[in-house]
Amino acid sequence: MDRIIIRGGNRLSGQIPISGAKNAALTLMPCALLTDEPLTLRNLPRLADVDSFGHLLNELGASTAIEGTRPSDFGRVMTMRAGNLSSTIAPYDIVRKMRASILVLGPLLGRAGEATVSLPGGCAIGNRPIDLHLKALEAIGAEIEVAAGYVKASAPKGGRLTGGRYRFPVVSVGATENVLMAAVLANGTTIIENAAREPEIVDLCNLLVAMGATIHGIGSDRLEIEGCERLHGATYGVMPDRIEAGSYACAAAITGGDVELTGACAEDMRATLDALVEAGVTVEEKKSGIRIAANGPLRPLTLSTAPFPGFATDMQAQFMAMQCLTEGTSVFTETIFENRYMHVPELARMGAHIEVHGRIAMVRGVEKLTGAPVMATDLRASMSLIIAGLMAKGETQVNRVYHLDRGYERLEEKLQAVGADIERVGDG
Ligand code: EPZ
Repeated sequence: MDRIIIRGGNRLSGQIPISGAKNAALTLMPCALLTDEPLTLRNLPRLADVDSFGHLLNELGASTAIEGTRPSDFGRVMTMRAGNLSSTIAPYDIVRKMRASILVLGPLLGRAGEATVSLPGGCAIGNRPIDLHLKALEAIGAEIEVAAGYVKASAPKGGRLTGGRYRFPVVSVGATENVLMAAVLANGTTIIENAAREPEIVDLCNLLVAMGATIHGIGSDRLEIEGCERLHGATYGVMPDRIEAGSYACAAAITGGDVELTGACAEDMRATLDALVEAGVTVEEKKSGIRIAANGPLRPLTLSTAPFPGFATDMQAQFMAMQCLTEGTSVFTETIFENRYMHVPELARMGAHIEVHGRIAMVRGVEKLTGAPVMATDLRASMSLIIAGLMAKGETQVNRVYHLDRGYERLEEKLQAVGADIERVGDG
């Protein structure tokens, strides 16, 4: 397994190109199942999860073709075509490797009137149930049976979903995406209340509209979808990755650096940028992207994660790493996932002083962090170890970097280009 070695202390300076958003790509790709015409997505990030999703689409009978972009280019162009579906089953051995596979449930129901998808199971950050996905789909006419580790869903008498109304008891990004992708081909209108409002949901709605769907309330927590008979193909650009951008902003801040996040969209990451400003970082919004410049010592923060437009749970680990060297005590409250502090014991091995009490983590700033061999446990925890390693004294070795490869395109290249002493070593 590859490892990443960092020798800390270098100030980051220069430009970091921000890639297409992983969490947008993983909900835009299943839209190819909603039509028999080609769907072309531009600015797709070169990530393991995107490749896995392409394989899943192939399993279902869709073709996928990567169009010519030079290996040195960031982002790819992929054309998918689900002319005829050869299967409506997403098997366990694919779903267990990538939870986002559950996002074929809605489109298969909408297009084929049936779907059999393995239950995704839990992961490091929580047990990640899908009950809200199923309840929302039932509300628009789906008949759902869960047995032997699989969800078996079908439209009434194998025809089309009816449309309906569902109010989410808690905000769920994936469940909102699944019911959206089912509702667009329903035989009726669907109203979703307390819908997730993340920018990736807006990106999904914009693609569906480009494919011929009629959706009202895009960007709000109340969506109204007028179902239609069929959708056509489209060509669409994936939005920039707000979490990747926020992660590199934390890296720039902790190293006292001055970095431009080219292609980043400030509107998508307002809470992240506000937290950086509160910590004393200079944030400058430009046409080409966002400039992040340290401006003296960082200040402690009190942050509580929340659904968009609140502070993103996917940014919690990265901000925690940044605050390890900040004089004073920062307080984090993780309200979304029940086990999203797996980075804490690893940061502690580097000398961080963090106390966890249930959902609350208290970070007391220390003079220095010391490089050490550390273990990545999940995607954003891995990034927090990278961020800490960039400022730790000595060498940090981050193991199990396959977690990182799921969410950060060419991470070491992007950081090397702005002065980090970082390299990837394989075990041969
Ligand atoms: C998406 O996961 C993202 N993944 C996550 O990013 C992100 O952390 C999360 O949204 C929250 O923003 C992708 O988009 C591929 P949820 P998702 O449904 O859809 C509970 C990353 O690092 N819940 O909004 O799975 C759930 O347990 C990843 O890029 C139910 O109880 O998240 C959690 O506590 C990690 N029942 C809360 O809701 C359900 O049916 C929010 O989950 C669904 C969710």
